[in-house]
Amino acid sequence: MIDDWIAWVYATVSENIGIIIVNAAILPLLALFRRVIGRSIKAVFDWVNAALFSFHHHLRLRRHVRNKQPLWDYRKAPPQRKRSHPKTLTVMNFKGGVGKTTIAANLAASFALKYDKRVLLIDLDYQGSLSDLLQDAQNTDDANLLSEWLSWKKVPASLSDHVSTVSSIEGVDIVTSAYALTETEENLFQRWLLNYEEGPDVRTRIELILSNQKLMQERGYDIVIMDAPPRLSLSSVNALRATDHILIPSKLQELSTKPIAQMLRNLREFQERIDANFKISGVIGSMTQKEKQVSGNETFASERIKEALAEYAPEAKFYRQLIPNRVWLGRPPSAPIGYLLSGHDGQVAREIFDQLALEVMASMEIYPEMQIAAE
Ligand SMILES: Nc1ncnc2c1ncn2[C@@H]1O[C@H](COP(=O)(O)OP(=O)(O)O)[C@@H](O)[C@H]1O
Ligand SMILES: [Mg+2]
Repeated sequence: MIDDWIAWVYATVSENIGIIIVNAAILPLLALFRRVIGRSIKAVFDWVNAALFSFHHHLRLRRHVRNKQPLWDYRKAPPQRKRSHPKTLTVMNFKGGVGKTTIAANLAASFALKYDKRVLLIDLDYQGSLSDLLQDAQNTDDANLLSEWLSWKKVPASLSDHVSTVSSIEGVDIVTSAYALTETEENLFQRWLLNYEEGPDVRTRIELILSNQKLMQERGYDIVIMDAPPRLSLSSVNALRATDHILIPSKLQELSTKPIAQMLRNLREFQERIDANFKISGVIGSMTQKEKQVSGNETFASERIKEALAEYAPEAKFYRQLIPNRVWLGRPPSAPIGYLLSGHDGQVAREIFDQLALEVMASMEIYPEMQIAAE
């Protein structure tokens, strides 16, 4: 831990060494001759210093861009904050339409209703599908809570006004997002690159809140589930810093297997670049023909995925539970999510997601406690 801080201070100092030397040389002289020089010269010095700093910074950024270096590691990321509770899970795949949002919502319902956990969902996707899926139609004022979260310079005193409760699922809160999130993300990212953005590093703002014990205890969260967009946005980068585990839903088709290997490789590289600390929990087969076992062409795809896991994420597993392709799981307009349906469909959905939740908990070392025995 202390090594990380030393490395970070070292990187920050060496990035700005020129400016520091100029200041170290001139500031004592200014202090010494302050009376003789007077205040106006000090003001001029401050201006020159600001100009020098901008110039230095501009050249550094220009070099970085010209060399086509990845922008997310333009600055060394600050060390990870200590965080033990709640555990955090991010549902991620750089491919869209693979069931990430559907899985995040139903998994949250299972954790809350079956295993009595308090859940915080964070919708990281500006398309706001998770928010739409779970928010009351009349509750649109809260439509972009994530923009607030990302814009904070320091953590708020309380989270109550900054999360929205999901009225259909007791025990679940959501940080909503909406289309305007893309602008927040782009603004923040550019301000950070140009060194205009004050406050904590923009890549670590969600981490800052989730590692605040007082805020997490206030709402009693046991688990945080983040639903990622299919790209490496500012929100995704925040999630990668803040998450303990990553769950990757994938269709079991040949076309989907290659991107999995690529993504696992990218995640490994990226982990070092931003000093992240996550584990890959595993891949879950989504929109499959059956719910218990792979069949037909899916067998080949699942073997390819297992090979990729063995190579790039040996700690991860291929989940036993599959999420079958069923119209009622895909939630036709105005219907509730699968987990909340009544009748046979709802029963099947609950069996699927309760089983998946058990596997997820085992992988995250969360213990389900008494709820199963009580059934
Ligand atoms: N298991 C499933 N069976 C049928 N349709 C599904 C299933 N999961 C998701 N869908 C539908 O597929 C589309 C994409 O799902 P979504 O969960 O939004 O994926 P992602 O978040 O990966 O983009 C949505 O229209 C959703 O309703
Ligand atoms: Mg989605």
